[in-house]
Amino acid sequence: MKYKRARGTQDILPPDIDRWRAVERVFEDTFDSFGYRGIRTPIFEPTDLFVRAVGEASDIVTKEMYTFEDRGGRSLTLRPENTAAVIRAYLESGMHRVGGIVRLCYTGPMFRYDRPQTGRYRQFHQVGAEAIGSVNPAIDVEMIHVVISAMRSLGFEDLDLRLNTVGTESSRKPYRKVLLLAIDELGDEIDEEARERYKKNPLRIFDSKDYGEKLKDKLPVISDCLTDEDAEHFTVVKELLDATGVAFVEDPHLVRGLDYYTRTVFEIYHGDRGAQSALCGGGRYDNLVAECGGPDTPAIGFSVGLERLIEALPETSAAVRTRPGLEFIVACTGQRAAARALSCARVLRRVGNTESDLSGRSRKKQVQAAEKSGARACVIVEESDEKAVTWRNLRTHEETQVADADLLDFVRSTHNSPEGTN
Ligand code: HAM
Repeated sequence: MKYKRARGTQDILPPDIDRWRAVERVFEDTFDSFGYRGIRTPIFEPTDLFVRAVGEASDIVTKEMYTFEDRGGRSLTLRPENTAAVIRAYLESGMHRVGGIVRLCYTGPMFRYDRPQTGRYRQFHQVGAEAIGSVNPAIDVEMIHVVISAMRSLGFEDLDLRLNTVGTESSRKPYRKVLLLAIDELGDEIDEEARERYKKNPLRIFDSKDYGEKLKDKLPVISDCLTDEDAEHFTVVKELLDATGVAFVEDPHLVRGLDYYTRTVFEIYHGDRGAQSALCGGGRYDNLVAECGGPDTPAIGFSVGLERLIEALPETSAAVRTRPGLEFIVACTGQRAAARALSCARVLRRVGNTESDLSGRSRKKQVQAAEKSGARACVIVEESDEKAVTWRNLRTHEETQVADADLLDFVRSTHNSPEGTN
């Protein structure tokens, strides 16, 4: 074979695509039910946007972006995530002047140059939501309700919701100081290069593959440094989750790989909590709108990784079984029958999904293929002056002659029959 797909990318083929579409539909219905409106932004954006929003020192910006120069010499980047782009579009379109809370949702491909492995791809898909304009802890909880509600509709039961606060800058500043001191005291438990790296953002140590698990219990946690307002916000979020029956685990070591977060952060796991198993990540980012040049506007959001979610779908999920049903096949023998076959298919589509077999193979082969298709009937159109077709019930294999002109009435009558199997 001459060409292969690029490393870290996937083709989503039938029948897997049925799951994807079913999952996306569940998210769309959930977003509708909470009043979120869809938004689609470009797949590439000016590089500066992500450098600023996601953070200059973050892994995403330092190692994982697909950045290129276009023919006009502009630096562009394939979006590694969508929150920054949504905020850019929110400001650029003037949505910030509307007032109240702007609730937006999206789905689409994201790009990160990472080492491909199960659950980690270079092109992957996220579905997500952002609520912009409120500092109320109740909106943090609504956000969690949205994602939990979609995941429950998909059949996920034992979800592991991890919750933490990373505070505002007023809490983080003193925390960074004590954390840096503690990192210094670790001596040779941490190498020189890593020590330098954590000087820029010491919280990242909890996220590190090399040191996170090993050293986290020797380091102070942010709760000791929270301002009263930050502590109060977190307390109310937890109380509201309790009051609305959402189970969670407080994880004082949960930090996120993107720099824009303030206060509430969360991740959702299912099954093993391996490095790649977070199905969802999100949190509050109260400074990002202002950093992108807008007015001071708090916001919160989440994104779910669709590849990971679909790989983890419980077998009992309705989405696993969803297939767009094919009801009818039109078999067509001979060139001269083509016009009638196309017309018959058009009539049948008024009742159900219909595929025309235009392969030109023998009647027998077409009927055999129809038998395997899962459709309920095959309409065989042959070259004849009779203007009648053969209706073959694919469950009972009975055949009936039906005049072309009577086809719609006939198919409707079969549709309404008790078993639909006339
Ligand atoms: P994130 O944690 O970087 O957050 O990504 C969210 C989810 O995307 C992850 O939990 C994971 O399921 C999936 N994901 C991330 N990277 C990959 C990858 N290389 N391959 C497959 N799946 C992946 C964000 O992107 C934030 N924008 C979330 C957010 C929205 N925060 C506020 N609003």
